[in-house]
Amino acid sequence: MEIVLSGIRPTGHLHLGNYFGALRNFTKMQHEHRCFFFIADLHALTTHPKSADFHDNVRNVLAEYLAAGLDPDVATIYVQSDVPEIAELYVLLNMLAYQGELERTASFKEKVRKQADNVNAGLLTYPVLMAADILIHRAGKVPVGKDQEQHLEMTRTFARRFNNLYGSEVFPEPAAFNFGGELIKIPGLDGSGKMGKSEGNGIFLIDDEKTVARKVMRAVTDSGPAHPHSEMSAPVRNIFTVLEVVASPDTVAHFRAQHDAGVIRYGDLKKQLAADIWRTIAPIHARIAEIKSDRDYLSRVTLHGAAKARESAQATLKEVKKAIGFKAF
Ligand code: TRP
Repeated sequence: MEIVLSGIRPTGHLHLGNYFGALRNFTKMQHEHRCFFFIADLHALTTHPKSADFHDNVRNVLAEYLAAGLDPDVATIYVQSDVPEIAELYVLLNMLAYQGELERTASFKEKVRKQADNVNAGLLTYPVLMAADILIHRAGKVPVGKDQEQHLEMTRTFARRFNNLYGSEVFPEPAAFNFGGELIKIPGLDGSGKMGKSEGNGIFLIDDEKTVARKVMRAVTDSGPAHPHSEMSAPVRNIFTVLEVVASPDTVAHFRAQHDAGVIRYGDLKKQLAADIWRTIAPIHARIAEIKSDRDYLSRVTLHGAAKARESAQATLKEVKKAIGFKAF
């Protein structure tokens, strides 16, 4: 049984990309591994230092995780800031992280460009905090997208550096977890890249039936296949990619055949896609509202999650301090 860990910054609602790209897999993985799922609210402060919705954002993501099927009695689900041991390990790891390597991190360089007015030290040491998240539970597997690979590589570096410096074997080196070929990238329906919360092309788990339909009907297509057997254009291919995830194989085959015959009507395709997306997310959508309004339940879940996470974190921190040479007087 592997120790698997995943974190998400609470900066917006979860969309189909989050769900089909990760969350749906997590609901299965939680039964196969020892899983830690947490909401990285400290990381969010590096870019959103005083969001008025700070607490709401955490609550939204938590409710959406639970509604999608993460089970707090099976996995350890917690809020990062509820586990102070993470911040403590972060301080200790900061002593092993070099200015140069942090400045060379791609995500840092991007932030320097994007938020030049707030290049805070938290941004610079973002990878150290992420390493603390992972190493605090000595996780062996971390499901990450391409954009997080460098951070995971740095986590391995810090783990190795700690072990070498202190002649210890406290930290394993975490590897990327890819869902064995099941990794699905959900494209945006605006004809561009992947679905994202900031791209304005997201279909969210909290969207109602009408909103889903409106967004899907707006999806970019083309002027229709020029002739039978025309190659599919990129925006239309994106629509089919999403359809394949939510619709039955027969439905996909039907519309593929129509495209191939050059007689496809994109309006019909979109209607079908909207219906299938809604069918897929409707049960989750219903649970989100229910869970979000149940403050007692959310309170119980976070307290329970923090207790479990802290137990694991304290065990690691004890070893870490012993290796460094902290002793009681
Ligand atoms: N940096 C990750 C992201 O932006 C979020 C994150 C924080 C994370 N800590 C983590 C992911 C630990 C995996 C493991 O997507």
